[in-house]
Amino acid sequence: MTALSFRVRQATPADNAALLALDRRCVVAAATPVAFDRSPDFFARSQPYACWRVFVAEGDAGLIGVGAMALKRVLIGGEPIPAAYLYDLRVAPEARRMGVAGGVGDALRAYAQSLEPAIGYALVREGNVPSLTFVQGRGSRPLRSCALDLFRIDQVPEDDPARLRRLGDADLVPAHRLALAAHQDHDLFPYPNVAELGDRLSRLGGLGWEGLYGWESRGRLTGCFGLWDYSPVMRMRVLAPEGEWAWAAGRDLRLIFLMPVGFPGSEGAAEALRLAAARMRLLPSSDPTCVLAVPHDLEDELYAGLAQYQRIPLRFTLFGLDLAGTGTGSFGSRLIFMDSADL
Ligand SMILES: CC(C)(COP(=O)(O)OP(=O)(O)OC[C@H]1O[C@@H](n2cnc3c(N)ncnc32)[C@H](O)[C@@H]1OP(=O)(O)O)[C@@H](O)C(=O)NCCC(=O)NCCS
Repeated sequence: MTALSFRVRQATPADNAALLALDRRCVVAAATPVAFDRSPDFFARSQPYACWRVFVAEGDAGLIGVGAMALKRVLIGGEPIPAAYLYDLRVAPEARRMGVAGGVGDALRAYAQSLEPAIGYALVREGNVPSLTFVQGRGSRPLRSCALDLFRIDQVPEDDPARLRRLGDADLVPAHRLALAAHQDHDLFPYPNVAELGDRLSRLGGLGWEGLYGWESRGRLTGCFGLWDYSPVMRMRVLAPEGEWAWAAGRDLRLIFLMPVGFPGSEGAAEALRLAAARMRLLPSSDPTCVLAVPHDLEDELYAGLAQYQRIPLRFTLFGLDLAGTGTGSFGSRLIFMDSADL
């Protein structure tokens, strides 16, 4: 390893321009490599969390690395517990294999441990060999396979958007009940109670939050989803778009997350998707670069109904990290809920 002099410190708003430039240079490797445009605000990615911190590695000529962590309250085995989520690890191409990610990772780990989380976790794209090797070399264990399913709006069958009602604050309680009922045995569910769901949604104001929608049968709310246009946070560019990605050539994709979502059974997932697409078609902001994005555990039967529609799955591995020195317990033995904010 060549010696490289750098120091790790907490990021400040003054680092924004340098971080945007660094991020643009850090292609995330995988079978389909992607790059991101995070302008105008690198830190917008962290705003959905109540508690987060970004560390940077600074060399003689400027910033060469970054990494972030958020402390979240999530359900594990049905109990709300504090969990540390590690994300946004990037090192400038010319500074790689010189221990920069390791230095940033040490700072993140020390800070995370000071907050006393019960577990830590990270998500890595399948095929991202540098990152997969890095996290496993530092003791993280692969726990679950997950997917982010991307659906082109023009390929989702029609449904009647008039069946949808825009939900207001008064609907948060039944919407939370639906989302929790669908995912109550899922680890990492990030809204242990209604207040925490409300807190999350309020943080998305100004970050592309379109609103919460629901549909009813016999006068009762039976399904719901939020539409979160992630493009104010980041746009995704597929490099070398071929095959199923050919249509994305030259486009910056706008991911629209369905979150939170609650529905009965796997046909409900398909219904939520059709209704979300129907709603998106009505929005003046909708355009052909919009892609509906549904994250889920690969083994989750609840989302099996989505397989009938054409989709492009991006695969991730969830890694668990023992930050408390007590192991990660049964975390990983159950399905997980993939939080859109973690992607
Ligand atoms: C993943 C990444 C952050 C690693 O940064 P880095 O500063 O080069 O990592 P380090 O020098 O601290 O590497 C520590 C160890 O990780 C593993 N590793 C890092 N890069 C690797 C590679 N290209 N191939 C195989 N192993 C690798 C090795 O075990 C390495 O130890 P070694 O160099 O002694 O063999 C960097 O490659 C990167 O920014 N990639 C693009 C963005 C990205 O994919 N981020 C992760 C998103 S989840």
